Amino acid sequence: MPEPPHAHRLAHRLDGIPPTIFSQMSALAVRTQSVNLGQGFPDVDGPPEVIARAVAALEAGQNQYAPGLGIPALRQAVARHQLRHYGIELDPDSQVVVTTGCTEGIAAALLGLVDPGDEVIVLEPYYDSYTAMIQMAGGVRRPVTLRAPSYRLDPDELRAAVTPRTRFVLLNSPHNPTGTVLTRAELQAVADVAQEHDLVVITDEVYEHLVYDEHEHVPLATLPGMFERTLSLSSAGKSYSFTGWKVGWATGPAELVGAVLAAKQWLTFTSGSPLQPAVAYALDEEPDFPAQLAAGLRERRDLLCAGLSAAGLDVRVPEGTYFATTDISALGWPDGRSFCLALPERAGVVAIPTQVFYDSDEGRQLVRWAFCKEAEVIEEGLRRLSAADLTA
Ligand SMILES: Cc1ncc(COP(=O)(O)O)c(C=O)c1O
Repeated sequence: MPEPPHAHRLAHRLDGIPPTIFSQMSALAVRTQSVNLGQGFPDVDGPPEVIARAVAALEAGQNQYAPGLGIPALRQAVARHQLRHYGIELDPDSQVVVTTGCTEGIAAALLGLVDPGDEVIVLEPYYDSYTAMIQMAGGVRRPVTLRAPSYRLDPDELRAAVTPRTRFVLLNSPHNPTGTVLTRAELQAVADVAQEHDLVVITDEVYEHLVYDEHEHVPLATLPGMFERTLSLSSAGKSYSFTGWKVGWATGPAELVGAVLAAKQWLTFTSGSPLQPAVAYALDEEPDFPAQLAAGLRERRDLLCAGLSAAGLDVRVPEGTYFATTDISALGWPDGRSFCLALPERAGVVAIPTQVFYDSDEGRQLVRWAFCKEAEVIEEGLRRLSAADLTA
């Protein structure tokens, strides 16, 4: 076969970056009519009043470019949110920028801050956009593993990952996919390392409100001396069940927010105008929605975890997020990928092999299940799992 023209090949900056696992597994779910417990999107939308605000903005003619930083009403609402929940005071004109989902916040932060060869410490397993964007920015990732079965951050491993080339930590808590919510002590270990080695920390806090039981989300920026070196990212997607809206924000010191804006202006220039007033309304006028959502999610977490356990899977009950992780070692499969590829035929259920979020072999036997679905959907998935033979 003749080689395709050079122009048809992917650029080297994408070498080794596979298509996201979520597209592959969601397509498999549709093809096999499986219950999709893979991709993390809720099947019930957020508050109707918030949707009505977006419709009103569309009809009122808010359909042209928003300011690059985001509309003032949303930046002010984000600043009020950070003050109300965490006591963080922000200047909405210089310390907040609206992004097209947290995904653009991650991309713009890394493109705006990382120089080729800079090392970025990431928690392993990692959200897959981190690895893609660190590589596209020319950076080098240095994973620090949250190890099964407790998935805690080991401060010694964190320290050992620092080299003279380390400039950033890219942190995620509450953590996808393990469901770990970093404790104050773990965050203090990150703060100590960052201050000792003059590192900037980028924190992905999209699951900030989805924490359960006695666990508490503590933004790293609230630890002594950390605001100045922390760029915090979040979005409305998870907190308000509007994952398709892609409205997010980056907050922190003006220099770090400025770096996000410097890159963002060339990525999207500005984010969707009519959704911004609706998200501002959600933050200001529906402040209790995320806690109610979390209360409902906690019940569905328990439903899913009990069912997975009854189906013979060794499950870790998550402290936060949409996801529970199981260890499938006992079932005899070579790895989670082969289990997940066989599962739609075997049981009519789709889950995500966590190993794709690792550089190391630590995640080979781990599988992630989403519980941000209606109880009936989870129950149907569990019925199918318990009726199937899950052994290799
Ligand atoms: C850890 C993490 N960060 C970021 C995102 C993406 O956020 P957004 O939809 O706001 O771009 C997700 C979505 O699954 C996520 O799990």
